[in-house]
Amino acid sequence: MEKEEVIVVKNLYKSFLDKVILNGIDLKLHRGENLGIMGKSGIGKSVLAKCIVRLIEPDSGEINVLGKDVLACNDTELDDIRKKVGYLFQGGALYDSMSVRENLLFPIRRTQFVDKKHDSQELVERSLASVGLLDVIDKMPSELSGGMRKRVALARTLILRPEIILYDEPTTGLDAVTSGEISELIIKIREEYNTASIIITHDVKCAKIATDRISIMEDGVFMVEGTYNELVHSDRKEIRDYFI
Ligand SMILES: Nc1ncnc2c1ncn2[C@@H]1O[C@H](COP(=O)(O)OP(=O)(O)OP(=O)(O)O)[C@@H](O)[C@H]1O
Ligand SMILES: [Mg+2]
Repeated sequence: MEKEEVIVVKNLYKSFLDKVILNGIDLKLHRGENLGIMGKSGIGKSVLAKCIVRLIEPDSGEINVLGKDVLACNDTELDDIRKKVGYLFQGGALYDSMSVRENLLFPIRRTQFVDKKHDSQELVERSLASVGLLDVIDKMPSELSGGMRKRVALARTLILRPEIILYDEPTTGLDAVTSGEISELIIKIREEYNTASIIITHDVKCAKIATDRISIMEDGVFMVEGTYNELVHSDRKEIRDYFI
């Protein structure tokens, strides 16, 4: 039996002024799956991810997340979707004026998240432990390396126990070893939290380690889809070129 679909995007359109970015794009994400999205810079990968949680309003099309029609949601329903869909932003921005602990408490307070078994401080600790950074809990973001900041941002995403995570370039700007560690972490997080994920990446190694399937975006749609191995060995040079 096919696995349950947790995100279904159908025929989605988005233009900025007269520039068409999403041109009737379709996407499906299944429970437990890690879907990679690759494509040239500026092609619209982040726009697509933002549309899924309505940080950007699409022009037309359908978006279904965990059985909810996202484009028909009111603000309360949208808040609920955004709790269930963690978003690791491309910049991975932390609040510089807050300690790591405060950064992680922020989403709990904002959403008045309640966990029957654990208090807020315990949630912060568990989440940091998941990314292997319990020891930086009282540091300020400026004291952390780029890789550590990415992991803290990921811990902040995990704190609300999302069912789906959208990773927007989780390894960009990191050295090869640290990128590899983040890619392994993405796999570990899936096991620990039972998440499905979309992983937008230019990083070939991340695509190889962290994804089950990859879609490549071109001209506002996905032009090809396959596993890492299928795409790397494609008979089309323009596809293989994404993996050099
Ligand atoms: N809020 C916005 N207003 C106007 N144009 C936008 C907005 N957001 C994105 N764009 C434009 O949409 C296009 C796609 O941007 P997007 O950020 O999705 O690219 P991307 O594929 O994520 O690129 P990268 O790999 O560099 O992150 C770009 O031309 C960008 O300038
Ligand atoms: Mg982007």
